[in-house]
Amino acid sequence: MGFDSIFFSEAENELSDIRLKNSMLLDRRNEEIRNKYPEIAEMKRELSGTLTKLITIITERADNAMDKIAALEKENLALQERIRCALVKNGYPENYLSPIYRCSICEDTGIVGDKYCSCFMDIVKRKAAEKLNSTAPLKLCSFDDFSLAYYDDSRPTELGTTAREVMSDNLTACRRYADEFHLPYKSLLMQGKTGLGKTHLSLSIASEVLRKGYNVIYGSVPDLMRKLDKEKFEGGEVMDMLETADLLILDDLGAEMDNRLYVSVLYSLINARMNASLPTVINTNLELRELERKYDERISSRLLTMEKLFFTGSDVRVRKSLE
Ligand SMILES: Nc1ncnc2c1ncn2[C@@H]1O[C@H](COP(=O)(O)OP(=O)(O)O)[C@@H](O)[C@H]1O
Ligand SMILES: [Mg+2]
Ligand SMILES: [Zn+2]
Repeated sequence: MGFDSIFFSEAENELSDIRLKNSMLLDRRNEEIRNKYPEIAEMKRELSGTLTKLITIITERADNAMDKIAALEKENLALQERIRCALVKNGYPENYLSPIYRCSICEDTGIVGDKYCSCFMDIVKRKAAEKLNSTAPLKLCSFDDFSLAYYDDSRPTELGTTAREVMSDNLTACRRYADEFHLPYKSLLMQGKTGLGKTHLSLSIASEVLRKGYNVIYGSVPDLMRKLDKEKFEGGEVMDMLETADLLILDDLGAEMDNRLYVSVLYSLINARMNASLPTVINTNLELRELERKYDERISSRLLTMEKLFFTGSDVRVRKSLE
């Protein structure tokens, strides 16, 4: 299952930026040591001289070449040790003048043997997810601008407590979900009428989990179905990303067109993520009964196993417009 090659070249650019930054940082460190501790810089120079000596020995092809190489190796190790000691004695970490790598597995080449390093594929996935999320208003919603004042606190709802109490619990549950996010993790189903803040809280979870460095994909179901339709549903980049993202947010389930193909795609998506123990946050305006009617039993039985938050109150969009 391949990603668009554009994301590979973007990832290569990012990696080469990292290599450049780190090599500039190392240059600055060398410069600093040259200025403050010339004797350490001198040892570094000697160390790089051992390579020239090695090449000379090899090209001479003398009988005792192996002995000479062994001696040189010993000399080289001793020199390295002296440099480390001198650095530590002067208050530096012992690897202060060693190459700097963000990934110690591939040393920032992005490649291990004949495969891409996982650090490289993480960048590719992040680039692809950023593209897919680029139309989502991820920065526009946060827990901090979710106000409970919009929910009635004067009389109990059918749930037994006031709308404000119900929504206060929902807010707490969503905050906790984002705060405690880890993998594997549970899934959430938010259910309630339109305008009650489901999208707002879903986006708040998305941006918080993104901030923690996880790969998050947010999309409204109608929009995602159109994107999947375009790539003919199977084995494409979008489907692959939806199936493997650390967190997938499916906004407005039920708002997509009635279509048997959509139902089976949604089923295989939800099922693939559950089998991989990957969390999904789903929100829907449909009541559970309506969900059962719209989707077949395979989907609704999976939705029913998710932790559910029921949203209640009156349309916040309307209330806000009256302010
Ligand atoms: N509790 C709230 N505090 C502040 N703004 C809210 C709140 N609930 C909803 N909104 C705003 O009202 C509008 C509709 O809410 P939304 O989250 O889209 O509802 P839903 O997804 O449940 O239909 C959005 O602009 C949203 O930011
Ligand atoms: Mg919504
Ligand atoms: Zn790597």
